[in-house]
Amino acid sequence: MGKILENLKFTVAAGVVLTVLVAYLLMEQDTMGAYARYLHAMSGVMWIGLLWYFNFVQIPTMPSIPDDLKPAIGKHIAPAALFWFRWAAMATLITGIWTAHTQGYLMDALMLDESARLIGLGMWMAIIMWFNVWFVIWPNQKVALGIVEAEAEAKPKAARMAMLFSRTNTLLSIPMLYCMISASH
Ligand code: HEM
Repeated sequence: MGKILENLKFTVAAGVVLTVLVAYLLMEQDTMGAYARYLHAMSGVMWIGLLWYFNFVQIPTMPSIPDDLKPAIGKHIAPAALFWFRWAAMATLITGIWTAHTQGYLMDALMLDESARLIGLGMWMAIIMWFNVWFVIWPNQKVALGIVEAEAEAKPKAARMAMLFSRTNTLLSIPMLYCMISASH
């Protein structure tokens, strides 16, 4: 067991094996929709988990971290967290659209039709959040963290922009999650 838990890839593989076992033994409806929703919820947890990590942990603790230790965050932890963050956002969007398609209400939801208004509203909030991740937060973080070349004075401006949009997403994540889980229960 120690051998499995010491290695992240083996740990994830063991989780997948356990899921397949549970799904095979207990799932009544073995539909594509159920798999899509499951993959969707899992990538959503990864995305919003990292969003909340940035907002609840990294941003508030940054000022109290001694200057000589700050590069550990900026050069190592933040780029790795941002990698999983933006690709989890992409996976959440794709699996979310796929889920709505398997349930047969994708267009009704996007048009905010009365029959799918609550999930449609949640989807639009999450789509705006996805847009913010890929087209505002990530480009600005690349400047702020020095991943792309930029003038020195551009860095604090980019960092503030990324922070404000990350905050906007934290704000939206609260009603968005309400819509996601209330729509079908
Ligand atoms: C990015 C755009 C997103 C789209 C297009 C989308 C779409 C959907 C759709 C269509 C469903 C299925 C509702 C049903 O069962 O009929 C759903 C469920 C769900 N979504 Fe999203 N979603 C998005 C983002 C998110 C995010 C960011 C989260 C964060 C955790 C999330 C969490 C969930 C959860 C937990 C469910 C399962 C609800 C349940 O069955 O109890 N979604 N989503």
